[in-house]
Amino acid sequence: MQDQLSALLNKARAEFAALRARPEFEAAKARFVGPNGELTALMKQMGAVPKDQRPALGRSINEAKAQLQALFDLTLRAIEDAEIGAQLGPPVDPSLPPPDGGPGTYHPLTLVREEMCRILRKVGFTVADGPEVETEFYCFDALNTPLGHPSREFTDTFYFPDTTRFNNVSRRVEGEKYLLRTHTSSVQIRTMLQQAPPVRIVSPGRTFRRDTTDATHSANFHQLECLYVDRNVTVRDLKALLDYIFASLLGPETKTRFRPHYFGYTEPSFEVDLSAKHLPKVNKEWIEIGGCGMVDPSVYEAVGYEPNAWTGYAFGMGLERLAMMLYGIDDIRYFYQNDLRFLTQFS
Ligand code: DAH
Repeated sequence: MQDQLSALLNKARAEFAALRARPEFEAAKARFVGPNGELTALMKQMGAVPKDQRPALGRSINEAKAQLQALFDLTLRAIEDAEIGAQLGPPVDPSLPPPDGGPGTYHPLTLVREEMCRILRKVGFTVADGPEVETEFYCFDALNTPLGHPSREFTDTFYFPDTTRFNNVSRRVEGEKYLLRTHTSSVQIRTMLQQAPPVRIVSPGRTFRRDTTDATHSANFHQLECLYVDRNVTVRDLKALLDYIFASLLGPETKTRFRPHYFGYTEPSFEVDLSAKHLPKVNKEWIEIGGCGMVDPSVYEAVGYEPNAWTGYAFGMGLERLAMMLYGIDDIRYFYQNDLRFLTQFS
């Protein structure tokens, strides 16, 4: 019987070494220790063994059981490792170069945004941020844009039907609607409510309007807003700053022009045109780029600044249009299609 035991163990070692999957493992295990297994059969023969030989045989059987169990454990570990390996796929070498060629590039809108912020930081502006989901207060009311103003219409602005979902708002009137900000001018209000004058901020960001998409319009676009509040600020300071930033971005040949306009939050207000015919694909003499003006006293009142003590200017402009001029892009939709043939041209 001792011989049968060691033969059984040798057989088990050979069989289990070849196993690769769980079902075969369970079946093999049953062939040895299951109710009809080979070891089970040997144990049943114990009754026929003479009494004096039984203790030694019992020890041998226990020994064989322990060895089989160790074999089961080892085999199961190997099968589990193989299963995990199959889920992970082939090993990855992170030190190899990427398969799709070279490092990534910055999006052209990111390049223009960062360059504008760099230009403005040089003259003392700090980058400020605000949320894309706003309330009517920050986007319109505090900016002296009353109910009934065309830009507040449902046909121009994306309103949220549910008014209870957001908690980014520190100041909100009962019943006021949430919306996707239509301009970055809302960051002016957030900034002034948080800090005392003087203020000198630039705020780039994403903005939204109910526009039908075509070569020059997108419902989702980007703006860059500036606000400067201090003593004795004049229109001349505003014009000088705009001349400086556009000459820095587009080249010293660039000219700016103001046309009188109306915005509720500035008085006087202007639209800003750029002349940059030295740029390769620019063929119009004047291109409208944004709006600006001297901060209206009603805005100071809305944020608790003393209107007679403080003066300032503000402007806002579209980043897409700037990038289109700078890089000679003729369709705004290229910015959002994530086509690598387009994007990799701006490395
Ligand atoms: N918010 C305006 C727009 O989206 C742009 C603008 C005009 C911003 C005048 C200003 C400003 O800060 O003073 O068209």
